[in-house]
Formats: sequence, C-alpha cells, structure tokens
Amino acid sequence: MQDDYSFFKTAILRQTGIDLSAYKERQMKRRLETLYKQHHFYSFRSFFQRGLQNDPALWQAFFDKMTINVSEFYRNKKRWERFEFDILPQLLETRGKLQLWSAACSSGEEAYTAAMITSKYRALTDVSILATDIDREALQRAKAGRYQEKSVREVVPAERKRCFDEEGNHYRVKPMFRDTIRFKRHNLLADPYPREQDLIICRNALIYFTNAAKEQIYHRLNQSLKSGGFLFVGSTEQLFSPETYGFEHVGNFFYRKRHSSSRLW
Ligand SMILES: C[S@@+](CC[C@H](N)C(=O)[O-])C[C@H]1O[C@@H](n2cnc3c(N)ncnc32)[C@H](O)[C@@H]1O
Repeated sequence: MQDDYSFFKTAILRQTGIDLSAYKERQMKRRLETLYKQHHFYSFRSFFQRGLQNDPALWQAFFDKMTINVSEFYRNKKRWERFEFDILPQLLETRGKLQLWSAACSSGEEAYTAAMITSKYRALTDVSILATDIDREALQRAKAGRYQEKSVREVVPAERKRCFDEEGNHYRVKPMFRDTIRFKRHNLLADPYPREQDLIICRNALIYFTNAAKEQIYHRLNQSLKSGGFLFVGSTEQLFSPETYGFEHVGNFFYRKRHSSSRLW
C-alpha cells in the first residue's frame, strides 16, 4: 500500500495536475502537515478524502500553504538597479519590441516593477509583459493591482507618485501598467512555455523544487529565450554550471542565453 504522503501526492496530481513530488519533500510535507492538523485531520489521506473532497474552501487553504506568495515591489533593490543600468540598456540597444516574462510572479509586484523601470526608457506600447503563476488567487490580486503600504516600501516617493494612485491606505498600480501586463495561470512543471522571450524573470520559486525539477525548468527557460536573451534569478538560485543549460553567467543573478544553444528540450 502507498504510504500516506504518496497517496496524497498521487491524488493531488490526478485532481489538479500539480506534481508535489517535484517540490522539496521535507519542507512541503511539513507545511501541509501543519495545515491538516490545524483543520483537525489526522493524516494526509483523511485530509484529502474527508477534507478537500467535501469542502471547497479547504482547497484555497491548501493552495495558500503549498505556494508561498511573498513578494514586493523592487524586491532586492540592488538587483533591479543592475537590471535598469546594465541589462536593460543591452536589450534596448539590440531589440525592437521587448518581450518579458515574469514566471512565478505571485501577486504581480515583480512584473509591475519590470514595467515601471522599462517605461522610463521605452514606450510601453513597445513592451509586452507576460506574468504567470500557478496560483489563481495570487493572479487575481495581481490583476487588481492594489497593494498595502508594506509592498511598496522600496519604491521611492517620486516613483510612487508616477506609478500608483493612492486609495485610502492602499496603492493601486496606474492603469497604463495594468494594461501592459497579461496575467495568466501557468504551471512551470507541466504547461508549454512561451517562446521568443528577451528576458525571463524567475525568482524565489525554484528554491522550492527538487534538483531534478529545477534542471528541467532551467533547460526549458533557456529554450524560451531568444538567443542573447537574459534570465534573472533569485537570491539563492544561482546556477552551478550555467553552460549545462545553455547559459553564460553575466554577473550576479543574471544569465544570458548562449548563441550556440538551439537544442530543443
Ligand atoms: C515566493 S513567490 C515568488 C514571487 C516573485 N517571483 C518574487 O520573487 O517576489 C513563489 C511563487 O511561485 C509560485 N509557484 C509555485 N509552484 C509553481 C509552479 N509549479 N508553477 C508556477 N508557479 C509556481 C507560487 O504560487 C508563488 O507565487
């Protein structure tokens, strides 16, 4: 007989298409155990059969626990400075219309940050930004574009004024940015990847995956980029041997797709 967690993983995969075995097991199991105990279940099996199957509200609690949605505007500000003053100028010099993809965008702060910075140098009509996440609820928040003060604490006052409307004690992203970004559900483990991207921002999501899953994702991200396009990763997500995936390292947290890399994944 399957052990308790294996049963749960299989059941979740069947019902949602989400493969929990691609996530680091110890962390994921601990988070989900905490959840089922809070709801007075005694096993993964009972949580699935008697909880999730009977109570739609529990599904959102499950998604909230399995996806960690923390994000903010200009998260790790120095890296966005590197993007603005080093990576973006290279793209602007060589490309016409820019295609950017914020993968695992959570509630949208990262995609909006990219739009806000890029808009200083290029009309947004010439920029297409796709922002994706597996979590529908986070995507709803992203589309609404309405944030608490703590989300914008890294945004300097002049930029706050240029990019947000104040609504009581919230900040609403101005329509010109909301209209530029297409938010869409996308599972990095299962769905086809968009192609011909100039820049992919994929930060603070891959840390939750197993090495095998990460390797596959890095290959696929590489295939999504145009030759010479850039990948922007998170703090603890540096690639050990980027050339294995068709990348070259171009300074902390940025990789460029090598010109010779055309292998289809
Ligand atoms: C910590 S947030 C990162 C948000 C943003 N990239 C940042 O760095 O601020 C991690 C996000 O990864 C998403 N995620 C987890 N598994 C995913 C998958 N298989 N496909 C797409 N997104 C996934 C979660 O829903 C969550 O919103």
